[in-house]
Amino acid sequence: MGLLNDRVALVTGAGQGIGEAIAREFAAEGAWVAVVDIRRETAEQVAASLGINARASVFDITDADAYKNAVEDVLRERGRIDILVNNAAVAFTADVFEDTRQQWERTMAVNLEAMHQGAKLVAPAMARRGWGRIINISSVQAFATDGRVGAYCASKGGIVALTRSLAVELAAHGILVNAIAPGFVRTAMSMVDGVDETTTGDFAEWYVKRRKIPLARAAEPREIARVAVFLAGEDCSYVTGATLVADGGLTITF
Ligand SMILES: NC(=O)c1ccc[n+]([C@@H]2O[C@H](COP(=O)([O-])OP(=O)(O)OC[C@H]3O[C@@H](n4cnc5c(N)ncnc54)[C@H](O)[C@@H]3O)[C@@H](O)[C@H]2O)c1
Repeated sequence: MGLLNDRVALVTGAGQGIGEAIAREFAAEGAWVAVVDIRRETAEQVAASLGINARASVFDITDADAYKNAVEDVLRERGRIDILVNNAAVAFTADVFEDTRQQWERTMAVNLEAMHQGAKLVAPAMARRGWGRIINISSVQAFATDGRVGAYCASKGGIVALTRSLAVELAAHGILVNAIAPGFVRTAMSMVDGVDETTTGDFAEWYVKRRKIPLARAAEPREIARVAVFLAGEDCSYVTGATLVADGGLTITF
């Protein structure tokens, strides 16, 4: 028996990185997964590797009509959606002197507005069945940052607040809404200016040797995905509106 047997899940940004790991762990726990991504190739590869437990769903989550159609497709095909993981995000590296209006708007549209839209689209179907789990991927950058990612930080802080609001609104319908705030995770997003920031000399010195991250390493995507498995399943019965920080202790040090 898997922890998510017979559950139907929709995971955004599941073509790679943390979203891919979540799709894989959900499928391994018995769920059927809609692998949502803007990139066809990666979404189809992940879905194909999961076989009958998944289907690729390729669209831009900021396209409200496409998102609505995708949710309707899953409801038609599977009869329900039990779990939504709002994971897809973008990040632009630029300080306040350099960043552009376009970067700000794209960041907010993908990272925050589409999250609200996704919740809005799945909540009625979850409420009809009196059961649902919505998991929003935030970041430690909601709380702490070394700059040059203002729009990203603002979007991730917004996710923490939106999670609480949704949790209050949806509790009476049996829908629990929580966020995960990862620290450093080894994915394509940890590439900054072409360099994997978890492999630099500075990272080794500061976060590993001096244990600014008490666990002295970056996370693997699967370690974040296992937190999502908990939040998606029956074991999560009395946690809602929370942001679980999964950062190896990074934000408890100074
Ligand atoms: N990697 C880290 O260190 C880290 C740390 C903290 C939080 N996070 C958060 O975890 C989540 C996943 O991050 P990741 O590192 O796996 O990122 P990633 O860049 O490796 O993957 C993001 C995925 O989202 C997809 N995507 C982007 N825009 C989309 C859109 N408009 N519509 C549909 N799909 C879209 C991309 O194609 C990609 O497959 C994000 O919310 C990120 O902010 C990551």
